Amino acid sequence: MSDGLNTEIFKITDENRETKAAADAVERAGAIVRRGGLVAFPTETVYGLGGDALNPASARKIYAAKGRPSDNPLIVHICRWEDLSYIVREIPEQAKRLAEVFWPGPLTMILEKSDKVPGETTGGLTTVAVRMPSDRTALALIRAAGGYVAAPSANISGRPSPTLAKYVEEDLGGRIEMILDGGQACIGLESTIIDLTESVPVILRPGYITRKMLSKVLGAVDVDRAILPEGSRIAPKAPGMKYRHYAPKAELTIIAGEEEAVVERINELLREAEKKGLRSGVIATDATVKRYRAALVKSAGDRRREEEAARELYRILREFDEEGADVIYSEAFEESGIGQAVMNRLLKAAGHHIEEV
Ligand code: TXA
Ligand code: MG
Repeated sequence: MSDGLNTEIFKITDENRETKAAADAVERAGAIVRRGGLVAFPTETVYGLGGDALNPASARKIYAAKGRPSDNPLIVHICRWEDLSYIVREIPEQAKRLAEVFWPGPLTMILEKSDKVPGETTGGLTTVAVRMPSDRTALALIRAAGGYVAAPSANISGRPSPTLAKYVEEDLGGRIEMILDGGQACIGLESTIIDLTESVPVILRPGYITRKMLSKVLGAVDVDRAILPEGSRIAPKAPGMKYRHYAPKAELTIIAGEEEAVVERINELLREAEKKGLRSGVIATDATVKRYRAALVKSAGDRRREEEAARELYRILREFDEEGADVIYSEAFEESGIGQAVMNRLLKAAGHHIEEV
């Protein structure tokens, strides 16, 4: 995987954040971005792979490092509201209202871009995705980098987004100049994306900020039909949502229904897998984790607290890969609150393979 770069890794914690060593590390990372290099950094959602959003060569480097198709646009990360006007054609009233409530935070807005943003960054689109993250290290890096950092999730294309720096290192070590390690990403799923260029705002990717929360601020909000469970055959409006992301090496099936029926059906599938000599894994919850007979059983947390599943899902998928699972069976999650985002990612990882019992 190494392309010969010597990737510096610097860990920033609440204990060392105020030290000169940490401040210097952030300055170093910012300088790398300013001269056209790439650094990975923590955000509250997942780790980002950052480059200068206003430099076309940086965007090309990002696509190359990730192995990502270059028609898949990048999110531009900013650290101050005042910086938005430079990269968009105009700031709609709706964007102001959303920013007041949700920025800094896990919300990305699609707006008409200004000519300052190169087409390389936006995958040739005339719109730009913008987000102001809340993670303190992310904000400090963006400032040090000059204010505009293009950052997709810091994974190799097709792998789960990294929620820990060690996964960034696994995927991109040797391909980028530096990784700022900020510990575990607290949300664990990518930001909600809302398109404000339509007459009615449209959610293109569900996340921690839910439709209900957005509607409270904006009134009517649509959801791109392609991201709904029944929409698997419609082309999504966010180019990146069409790729089979988050795909574990194992074949993943979701089993939905009442708890007892689900446990029974998964155990039945496990017996069949065992007969075929397959190594199987289960994504369970705290209440059911002891009830499965499989080589690898992992709990996504307390079913009533779906933010736990959000935080753990990508780590669990990566661990199944490392541990050589051939088949994975997952319980389904409630499609309310962030559970909707969990199900959206899980369905994509499963290639929409779901069984109702
Ligand atoms: O939480 C996040 O958003 C993370 C962190 C690092 O901030 N970033 C992230 O970036 O998830 P990425 O590149 O993995 O996903 C960006 C998504 C893709 O699906 C892309 O197609 C969509 O945003 N997107 C970007 N610009 C767009 C635009 N102008 N119109 C529609 N979709 C856009
Ligand atoms: Mg991604």
